[in-house]
Amino acid sequence: MKIVTILGARPQFIKAAPVSRALRRTHVEILVHTGQHYDAMMSDVFFSELGIPAPDITLNVGSAPHGAQTGRMLEGIETVLLREQPDAVLVYGDTNSTLAGALAAAKLCIPIVHVEAGLRSFVRDMPEEINRVLTDRLSTLCCCPSETAREHLAAEGITGGVTVVGDVMLDALTDTAARVANDPARLTALGVEPSRYLLATVHRAANTDDVVRLRAIIGALGAAAEPVLWPMHPRTQHILAREGIALPANIRSVEPFGYLDLVTALQHARAAVTDSGGLQKEAYWLGVPCVTLRDETEWTETVASGWNVLADADADRILAGVRGAGPSGAARDAYGIVGAAERVVAAMEQRFE
Ligand code: UD1
Repeated sequence: MKIVTILGARPQFIKAAPVSRALRRTHVEILVHTGQHYDAMMSDVFFSELGIPAPDITLNVGSAPHGAQTGRMLEGIETVLLREQPDAVLVYGDTNSTLAGALAAAKLCIPIVHVEAGLRSFVRDMPEEINRVLTDRLSTLCCCPSETAREHLAAEGITGGVTVVGDVMLDALTDTAARVANDPARLTALGVEPSRYLLATVHRAANTDDVVRLRAIIGALGAAAEPVLWPMHPRTQHILAREGIALPANIRSVEPFGYLDLVTALQHARAAVTDSGGLQKEAYWLGVPCVTLRDETEWTETVASGWNVLADADADRILAGVRGAGPSGAARDAYGIVGAAERVVAAMEQRFE
């Protein structure tokens, strides 16, 4: 098979690492980086740390309003697809890069493979939800991380070309956790003591662009009894600077982490506080209690198991969540077992060869 893979944002680099490795053993992959994320610590570091091959094509679209950003990607990806004529286009997750890749392929009648299909928040004013719903609708092969995801697709009438493969992020996390387990100097360099700090990440538009919510989140973290380590997304950095918001003394904001530092910091945190989708699952797999700064989640299994608590941007709920402990001994196997990347490639071979 000849596959064109579209990547653009940080979580997609992580998901692509194990799949690209499996795919390239016997197939040709052409990697397109849209340039949605462009800072070294939002992009390059993941390629070098996770051994992802350098992109064959970089579109350098950068930041722009959603329509302009997606439109620039669409035009660039179409040119690549016309030239390369792949057997299929591979897209991941729910970003504007995902939708642009799917739409460009669909218009050229090229089959689409969507990894992380069937996720739903049921909140239509969330840009990621629009991207997911449309990408699933256009896809030839929907690779779901869980049975719940398959059920969401079935409820929308999508039943053909659907397969539950498990979660490719578990593959990436398992590899990386094993690497950092033998590197105690990495934790020391982060300047934190094991199990005596919280790890925070905040980047969703709903939390950063609404300053009342952002202030409530910061207030709650400031009232927590322990130090907070906060690798800060550029969007959040810009807004704090623009609004002149100062951080309480117990919060230490640092540049975004690469994946090795992120996994190290999460593994040893007493709890995580986040609005990231990926971090909710990574905390669950590592057995770290998580407080999610949203009122809903796509990863409902993490909440049902007791490892994740939804706190929205409500200071009291955030603090109550942070003070609680994880459930003892609850199973953490809702997203299958390691090997999802191989199962994605096997499903593609079955469908396209
Ligand atoms: C995107 C995805 C989201 C994913 C997240 C992971 C969409 C709609 N959202 O949101 O699903 O969870 O990535 O991080 O695609 N910026 C920089 N440097 C960078 C990247 C971004 O400064 O390298 C700033 C820019 O000011 C930009 C803002 O961050 O305007 C937001 O970037 P955007 O491309 O909209 O994506 P994310 O918010 O990161």
